[in-house]
Amino acid sequence: MKNVEIVSRLKEYNNQSELEADDQLLVNEAKSSMNNAYAPYSHFHVGAAVLLENGKIIKGNNQENASYPTGLCAERVAVFSAGANFPGVKIKAIAIAASSDDFDVDKPVAPCGSCRQVIAEYEHLFKEKIKIIMSGESGKILVAESIDSLLPFQFNSDDLKSKVK
Ligand code: THU
Repeated sequence: MKNVEIVSRLKEYNNQSELEADDQLLVNEAKSSMNNAYAPYSHFHVGAAVLLENGKIIKGNNQENASYPTGLCAERVAVFSAGANFPGVKIKAIAIAASSDDFDVDKPVAPCGSCRQVIAEYEHLFKEKIKIIMSGESGKILVAESIDSLLPFQFNSDDLKSKVK
């Protein structure tokens, strides 16, 4: 037996103005998208903005449903929209922002497990790291340079021994 240690590296910024200019812009896009969230049940509004290699920014927000599990997170709405409208175009980065009707979101919001798996799919497909910029309404911002930091030891198409066609 041997112990295996997995290290996760993140960058922590005190506020949005400390970020690189491109990342600040992407966070602003995520924040603007957050305002279009359909969140009548959780009152928790999440926005996501995906930066593509061609410079386009694709936005998404959480879309809830009276049948709760049917709703979809902002990150997947944005990433699937990018895949639907720009198939084969690499994803460079995704910014996430959140606000609540009920409390101040003063710390960064991390993508849920399912969204991490979806981001991992595209990172694996394109063989290019996707930067993940996590913010709240205010407070610190966390940046992961790759989904590896948020989802170590991944299941992907290699495990199925299937070639993605
Ligand atoms: N949600 C997101 O859109 N992204 C996240 O990263 C976490 C959670 C949404 C799902 C649901 O509409 C609401 O936030 C509360 O869970």
